[in-house]
Amino acid sequence: MVQLNQFINQNKDRFLQELIELLKIPSVSADSKFKNDVRSAAQFIKNKLVEAGADSCQVFETKGHPIVYGEKIINKQYPTVLVYGHYDVQPADPYELWDSDPFEPVIKTTSIHPEGAIFARGACDDKGQMYMHIKAFEAMMKTNSLLCNVKFMIEGEEEVGSENLETFIRAQKSLLKADVVLVSDTGIIANDTPSICVGLRGLSYVEVEVTGPNRDLHSGLYGGAVANPINILTKMIASLHDEDSKINIPGFYDDVEIVSDAQREEMSKAPFNLKDYQDDLEINAVHGEKGYTTNERNSIRPTLDVNGIWGGYIGEGAKTVLPSKAYAKISMRLVPNQSSKKITELFQHHFNAIAPDSVKVKVTPHHGGEGVVVPTNFKGFVAASKAMEETFGKKPIPVRSGGSIPIVPLFEEVLGLKTILLGFGLDSDVIHSPNEHYGVFNYFKGIETIPLFYKYFNEEKTR
Ligand code: BES
Ligand code: MN
Ligand code: MN
Repeated sequence: MVQLNQFINQNKDRFLQELIELLKIPSVSADSKFKNDVRSAAQFIKNKLVEAGADSCQVFETKGHPIVYGEKIINKQYPTVLVYGHYDVQPADPYELWDSDPFEPVIKTTSIHPEGAIFARGACDDKGQMYMHIKAFEAMMKTNSLLCNVKFMIEGEEEVGSENLETFIRAQKSLLKADVVLVSDTGIIANDTPSICVGLRGLSYVEVEVTGPNRDLHSGLYGGAVANPINILTKMIASLHDEDSKINIPGFYDDVEIVSDAQREEMSKAPFNLKDYQDDLEINAVHGEKGYTTNERNSIRPTLDVNGIWGGYIGEGAKTVLPSKAYAKISMRLVPNQSSKKITELFQHHFNAIAPDSVKVKVTPHHGGEGVVVPTNFKGFVAASKAMEETFGKKPIPVRSGGSIPIVPLFEEVLGLKTILLGFGLDSDVIHSPNEHYGVFNYFKGIETIPLFYKYFNEEKTR
């Protein structure tokens, strides 16, 4: 692939500039203020697919943000790769914690990225990683080296649960016919330690509201005699974990997939240094479910976390008030075989059951999704592993991640397709946080690795 790598090398500056242009568009899917920007980002992607040589490029409207589609059927005999990614990003808040404007990308070196990293919201999650696929495709097209048919499906609602994409794939089964799905929206262990993500957790997300008296009260006149919903809510939340940090909801663990000792042993071989982990986060100790290691706690075990909690007076100074209401947002990360619908129902039932008579409780479910495990013995994985081994000079380690991509399990359920999670981000790229960035090294490593995946996938399929 000399010619192809030459093409990539000659176009590096332009490939970077185009990504920077895309990163300037604040395509925040959660906030309706950015609706037009989300649309501009979709249009940008569509134009770049056309320029790269894709056919049938189209921006599909949905009830929410649009989906960009484009394809190249180069040879009916070749296998087809469905590339999925997202062009929407998380809100950049809190802005004041960014060292530079989240939508004015800058390239700076860091100790982990001596070759530089692009700082911007979405740099790693997922604009930078998604755009690698469009540039790899362009390079293959321009050097006549595309060895698979390719279909691109790039959405604008991943960060808000992909509900309209689910409707889309259910309606477009024949358009999306393929042999495998390829996604770069996960990470590797380190730039000298390649890995392939072979698991994602599912998600159940709820919002709870606890109501005490019908109005805010004077905390002196009523305090002690009327239930304070914040006191009650925090007590209820505290009761959701036991001493061993196991989740106290009846039935919660019933369907949890048991990972064999042999598999746990295999997983423990991935390099990990607890002291570095703690130092990075400036914590003196880790915390979690008894009987499991840190890497097991954040991948093969389910969790329950409060994401936000509010109520009462939070302004300046002291206001003596017994509030009428208290709220919390709670997420549960699930493992394969747990059903997000069932877990949401179990939570709802349990939360109502533990509420004292002195308050009323309302549980509102938000978006959810199921967990995924990727087998390591099918053609797609073999091709991905060979591709990474060639560009990194080391065999990639299969690793299960703790994050979620809700559409991935539906690719299997609806389209009957397995997904290869060929991501290139690092945990230290701080996705979703202030100062998100993506290594220039990682960006180009991705662009070089993707064509090799196509090559080996073609060989595996036609063997
Ligand atoms: N790309 C991430 C998920 C991810 C990151 C998986 C790193 C594995 C490694 C994705 O954009 C994301 O943030 N997903 C959300 C779920 C969604 C429903 C908001 C998540 O995991 O919180
Ligand atoms: Mn993502
Ligand atoms: Mn994300």
